[in-house]
Amino acid sequence: MPAELSPIDKAKFVAAKRATDFVEDGMRVGLGTGSTAAWLVRCLGELVRDDGLRIIGVPTSSRTADLAREVGIKVVSLDEAKWLDVTIDGADEYDANLNLIKGGGGALLQEKIVATASDQMVVIADISKQVETLGAFPLPVEVVPFGWQTTKALVEETLVRLNGDTPYVTDEGNYIVDLHLKRIGNPRQLSLVLNQIPGVVENGLFIDICDAVVIGYGDGKVEV
Ligand code: 5RP
Repeated sequence: MPAELSPIDKAKFVAAKRATDFVEDGMRVGLGTGSTAAWLVRCLGELVRDDGLRIIGVPTSSRTADLAREVGIKVVSLDEAKWLDVTIDGADEYDANLNLIKGGGGALLQEKIVATASDQMVVIADISKQVETLGAFPLPVEVVPFGWQTTKALVEETLVRLNGDTPYVTDEGNYIVDLHLKRIGNPRQLSLVLNQIPGVVENGLFIDICDAVVIGYGDGKVEV
């Protein structure tokens, strides 16, 4: 373990390290985005370098692609890999049904496509991401730039007020608007409703996609 980690980074690191157990030689692996996923990429890079692990990585953002190459992981596109054995990614929130809010790092579209194209999705998270009900974390919604203010107004009319007028720009050149809902009573229904609004590309609710959560604690404990 790297020296001098804060408790939160230690929790992220131990979860990422433990999740490498899901990766076997020859696998095609979806690589998530965010600070926890970055630990995973570094841990896998070490296994590639020191233990001769042979894997093919499909990154979920340009940031992750850069890091994966830097640590020596062979990177291909999803189209080249076609299907993945496992995707390992962070999350902003997860509940008891393993439903998630993701996309706090602005990469939800690629993350959802890659996770859905995988036999298994494993989430790595520190214990602070565990919630009873999703929604305290602002739900990211990716919208096309054309008419985005109108799309945002439509989403607002359908749901509640959105915050912010300067959207984050994704790798696809789309915009992210954040939905401050506080509590999402029916995540499945909300996800369907959001994705029916013209201009909405995808939302950060991951329903029935995650298979396991590896939880890290600040004292270095880890559980699956
Ligand atoms: C990026 C994501 C991240 O996985 C999520 O935001 C968690 O990030 P972190 O590991 O930095 O807490 O969904 O789009």
